[in-house]
Amino acid sequence: MTRVLGGVAALLAERRLRVDVDGRPVVLIAADDAFVAYSALCPHRGGPLHAGSVLEGVIVCPWHRSVFRLIDGARVAGPSGCPVKAFTVIVDGDDLVVGPTEKIGPTEKIGPTEKKKMT
Ligand code: FES
Repeated sequence: MTRVLGGVAALLAERRLRVDVDGRPVVLIAADDAFVAYSALCPHRGGPLHAGSVLEGVIVCPWHRSVFRLIDGARVAGPSGCPVKAFTVIVDGDDLVVGPTEKIGPTEKIGPTEKKKMT
């Protein structure tokens, strides 16, 4: 588990952050109404997913153009044969707590009492 101090403001400002979670590279992304976290290593051949293009609802790997859906990491297109590994993101005040559990599927949404306008 990794606590990103001041992570809420930083992610809202930068739209994405690369952090290490238990020694593994993870990319945090501010996506629509949720913060999501995925392995920064593309499941295809380990491309730097944190450097990929974030478009409408997806992230595109810069190496071979696999496309993954932001809401759950599912592969949409490209050569990857599997989804990108997702990590849990929890908003704790001004901080973000990422991990420790890797999982496939939707990440934690910003809670109703903690939901922030992301414009
Ligand atoms: S390494 Fe990402 S698509 Fe090949």
